[in-house]
Amino acid sequence: MKKLWKNCHIATMQNGQYSSIENAAMVTDGKHIDWIGLEKDVPPLEFEESIDLNGAWVTPGMIDCHTHSVFGGNRSVEFEQRLQGVSYAEIAAKGGGIASTVRATREATEAQLLESALKRIRCMLKEGVTTIEIKSGYGLDYENERKMLRVIRQIAQTLPMTVKSTCLAAHALPPEFKDQGDAYIEHVCTEMLPKLHQEGLVDAVDAFCEYLAFSPEQVERVFKTAKTLNLPIKLHAEQLSSLGGSSLAARYHALSADHLEFMTEDDVKAMAETGTVAVLLPGAFYFLRETQLPPLESLHKHGVRIALSSDLNPGTSPALSLRLMLNMGSTLFRLMPEQALAGVTIHAAHALGLQVTHGSLEQGKYADFIAWDIEHPSEIVYWLGGDLGKRIVRHGTEISIS
Ligand code: NIG
Ligand code: FE
Repeated sequence: MKKLWKNCHIATMQNGQYSSIENAAMVTDGKHIDWIGLEKDVPPLEFEESIDLNGAWVTPGMIDCHTHSVFGGNRSVEFEQRLQGVSYAEIAAKGGGIASTVRATREATEAQLLESALKRIRCMLKEGVTTIEIKSGYGLDYENERKMLRVIRQIAQTLPMTVKSTCLAAHALPPEFKDQGDAYIEHVCTEMLPKLHQEGLVDAVDAFCEYLAFSPEQVERVFKTAKTLNLPIKLHAEQLSSLGGSSLAARYHALSADHLEFMTEDDVKAMAETGTVAVLLPGAFYFLRETQLPPLESLHKHGVRIALSSDLNPGTSPALSLRLMLNMGSTLFRLMPEQALAGVTIHAAHALGLQVTHGSLEQGKYADFIAWDIEHPSEIVYWLGGDLGKRIVRHGTEISIS
């Protein structure tokens, strides 16, 4: 079923970075892009439908490549505590932080978790996110990690989005393993990960490498297991301190290392060498009122791909808008709008290992795109909040979300 989408300009993101075609058109065939180019060169084919996009700017569907969007409860009380001067680390040390979301998530049923996550993810979808990664990591035992991962699979069945699940069992120490980090990691590696993977619930493995979570040695144990299971790797690294997690991630050919405020130039070089994507999370940086910026100049200099993501989670980034993250990525991290856009499209696709099928508009890739009612692509990054007029197409079909 061939459709012609005409009268538009297209930010294709071809060749792995921002690139565009003005006065363009696109032909889709079923779920895929069949042809893309200047409108005057449209091939003389029979089209079942011809859609006039009224001069819109078309971009790939946005990809949110790092979220914790399934969780019980929320942490607005901790938000208030932090405004009164208590730090994230202090709250965590007193049994709040991730541990409080673990309690709420364990108490919630699968149906409750699904319902609350769908509300949040619909906000993302409405603004043009057509692919999302979602992590477990608030269950921290087999049953509850499984519950979260099953909810993530159900989200994929419910919404017209591509959904990738990441097992983040090594997110924090559960109360059952108090002061027994090594024993918990052993349990994750010998029991939880193999079983969850066998049930087809895991697309990638992540861990939190931080002084208030797991050491590089413990993370390496998780990476070794992921390799044995043939699962791709991601890592929360260098968010609050410099432990060399991002170099470790690069050594294991991780898809991405994320956060990275405290990374060193050696870490940057290691990531550049293996093509590990730097996923920057301006929402968490902003919400925790961090002051240490990721080493942007060095990342640019060494040619590391930079993705941007919401990090949607109840503790450090209750961000329901990826477009707002684009603006923050530009304002806080000095990314040019084109770089920010590449960060939620082609670079984010690389961060999920989806670059062959997603992240840019080219022949053979999925027809996932947004036609924005704007005059220039930088407006997607420029406007703060609000709802920009747009049409969202996923796998060749226009979607409407109530
Ligand atoms: O990406 N850094 C660790 N994990 C999350 C925060 C999780 C939480 O506080 O609930 C993050 O920022
Ligand atoms: Fe995170």
